[in-house]
Amino acid sequence: MQQIIGPFSQILTFEQTALKGPLQVQDMGILENTGVRIDSGVIVEVGPFEGLVKNNARPQVMEINGSHVLMPGLVDCHSHMVWAGSRAVDFERRNSGLSYQEILASGGGILDTVKWVGQATKGNLKEDLHERILRHQYDGVTTQEIKSGYGLDAENELKMLEVIHEVDREVKVDLIPTFLGAHVCPKDYERSDFLDYLLAEVAPKAKLLADRADAFIEAEAFPVQIAQPYLMALKNLGFNLTLHADQFSSGGAALAIQMGAKSADHLEVTTSEDITLFGTSNTVAVVLPGASLGLGMAFAPARALLDAGACLAIASDWNPGSAPSGDLLAQCGILAAHQKLTAAETFSGVTFRAARALGFTDRGRLAPQHLFDAIAFPTHDYREILYQQGTLKPNMLWKKGELLIKRTT
Ligand code: NIG
Ligand code: FE
Repeated sequence: MQQIIGPFSQILTFEQTALKGPLQVQDMGILENTGVRIDSGVIVEVGPFEGLVKNNARPQVMEINGSHVLMPGLVDCHSHMVWAGSRAVDFERRNSGLSYQEILASGGGILDTVKWVGQATKGNLKEDLHERILRHQYDGVTTQEIKSGYGLDAENELKMLEVIHEVDREVKVDLIPTFLGAHVCPKDYERSDFLDYLLAEVAPKAKLLADRADAFIEAEAFPVQIAQPYLMALKNLGFNLTLHADQFSSGGAALAIQMGAKSADHLEVTTSEDITLFGTSNTVAVVLPGASLGLGMAFAPARALLDAGACLAIASDWNPGSAPSGDLLAQCGILAAHQKLTAAETFSGVTFRAARALGFTDRGRLAPQHLFDAIAFPTHDYREILYQQGTLKPNMLWKKGELLIKRTT
């Protein structure tokens, strides 16, 4: 079914915007007083509103009253949104002097969440995930990646992946599952024995539920040497790789690039040598400002990564330990101020560049042949969005052409 939607004060199209490197305002492909013609959820044409209406016999028109900026729906390419329980106690412990790694080494942190996820029913986990998806939808997210990783055994890793699949069928937003069996090592295992267990007992079944696999590359989790053969085996099983890399110690990003991973995520302590590697690599550099805010750490070097020519994406990392806020748009506004990112760089990082980290080329740009996944903000000037640091929410959201949110205030 054809529909014409508009006029919008500005449409940020990103039609021709480069996949990698620094960007300026002129790179966003801004069109003023324009509309969109869509057919079956896919964009056919973006152009002057009057022309779209005149050139189409008996069009179905959704007229937008008042000033609005339209941009692609947000793609959040890294989250841990299936969890049970709260880690508020960790926040307090860290602020009293313990480090994230010390809490983990003492058997808490991620391992506490593993315990609670093990005790939770699928129904409990689904209900909480559903609520979080709806909240993210109100923040403008139309594609959401979600990791397992709080199961750490066959039963509970698969339970998490099934929860993602089942909720995906109940919501309109696309949910993309990632198998993160190698998040941390359970207490009763040697690390390499645990990875052997994952390969033998979990990964083949997880592959039926997820095309992507992740591992936490870190001294307290899985160091490079131990992780490498495991990752190679996952690749041979057909998984696309993405890695938690360089959050507290470096080495993971170089490993991700060397293994042709789709993305390397975190990068708070990536060395300048490894930053340059992203310039000639197809591995997307994903930064997670929510984790820096949660842990009180420096932000990842987003500016330097862009200047080195990286494809930079920004994701929420929404999880109960390091990044409990989940507010991607607020995190974008804050990161932009700290790392001196232009609006073009920031918005690209949560649209088509983030889509690339998930292997999608059909979303993240408002251009012909792309899905009409879009959000409209009640303002005439795109600059208001990041300036207001997440307090200006989209008041309309479309997923594959379907209007899911329409608020008048
Ligand atoms: O991306 N660092 C490893 N994993 C998550 C945190 C998970 C947790 O603390 O529950 C992250 O920060
Ligand atoms: Fe994470």
